[in-house]
Amino acid sequence: MDCFVASLLAMTPVSRLGESVMRRAVLTILAVLAFCSAAIAENFPSHPVTIIVPFAAGGPSDAMARILAERMKQTLGEAVLIENVTGAGGSIGVGRAVRSPPDGYTISFGHLGTHVANGAVYKLGYDLVADLEPVVLLPSNPMIVVSKNTIPATSLKELLEWLKARPTPPTAGTAGAGSGSHIAGLYFENVTGIKLQYVPYRGTAPAMNDLVAGQIDIILDQTSNSIAQVRAGTIRAYAVTDDKRVASAPDIPTTDEAGLSGFHMTLWSGLWVPRDTPKEIVAKLNAATVEALNDQAVRKQLENLGLQMPPKDRLSPEALGAWQKAEIAKWWPMIKAANVKVD
Ligand code: MLT
Repeated sequence: MDCFVASLLAMTPVSRLGESVMRRAVLTILAVLAFCSAAIAENFPSHPVTIIVPFAAGGPSDAMARILAERMKQTLGEAVLIENVTGAGGSIGVGRAVRSPPDGYTISFGHLGTHVANGAVYKLGYDLVADLEPVVLLPSNPMIVVSKNTIPATSLKELLEWLKARPTPPTAGTAGAGSGSHIAGLYFENVTGIKLQYVPYRGTAPAMNDLVAGQIDIILDQTSNSIAQVRAGTIRAYAVTDDKRVASAPDIPTTDEAGLSGFHMTLWSGLWVPRDTPKEIVAKLNAATVEALNDQAVRKQLENLGLQMPPKDRLSPEALGAWQKAEIAKWWPMIKAANVKVD
């Protein structure tokens, strides 16, 4: 008997019965519903699952999501599709996920920008904590200071001097207000006192095209997005914003080594599902992602991009929830103080 029909039958004509029978009827309904969600979770997934990436294809978020999806499908036994829904610093894609049915088939890929910063930048129409269930923390990405090749600077110190000497604010490519590259830009302005002119794109992949073409001056980018262009010599790298060098790019100094002490930022990512998604389904998605992160071939791919694995003791849904709240408390004051204007 279909779960839904069972609960309907159990509910009719409750109102006409005595109190004790009413209590038994309610308990019956609850039991049926619990049985239903366990049965639903048991069969999950029974068709392809979609991860909504709120930035352009080919960018750092897209690259990480596709590597994980390829491995998650083995565990879930169903295809894991990627849908790029871009715009407004990623808040449009996240909104699409928030409004999706809480059945586990729509997953929101996001990061410090989309699931923390955007709450301090936009009137979102949804609550980043209350309207989403955390699933799992994903690898983090040290940020990197990169510029177009035509800037006559060979060190971070020289780059800062060149930027300061501009008659008008130098241009910095971002993935939109509130995105990781924008928040890194705000933080960079704070520590250097250099005012930047932000040029928003639908992701740092299209921004990178314009940096290579010399249309914009710099990007405070995710290392995984810049590393191939740096290796190809089409852009210039000055420092990574971490207290240790990136294993796959040992020639690039840290900001501490390059003279911008304490300018540290790694962009962590995560997966979420709509509020009220059954806990059993959240657990299945968490397990499939953790299995992918523990897969040696997947780890190699991710680490080659400069990504850092999340600590093993922070892979539970609860750990992501707690981390997200802590990051909101940490970053919102700086972002709100920047008084970011969005149309
Ligand atoms: C992207 O995938 O384009 C990035 O995550 C954008 C960003 O937040 O900077």
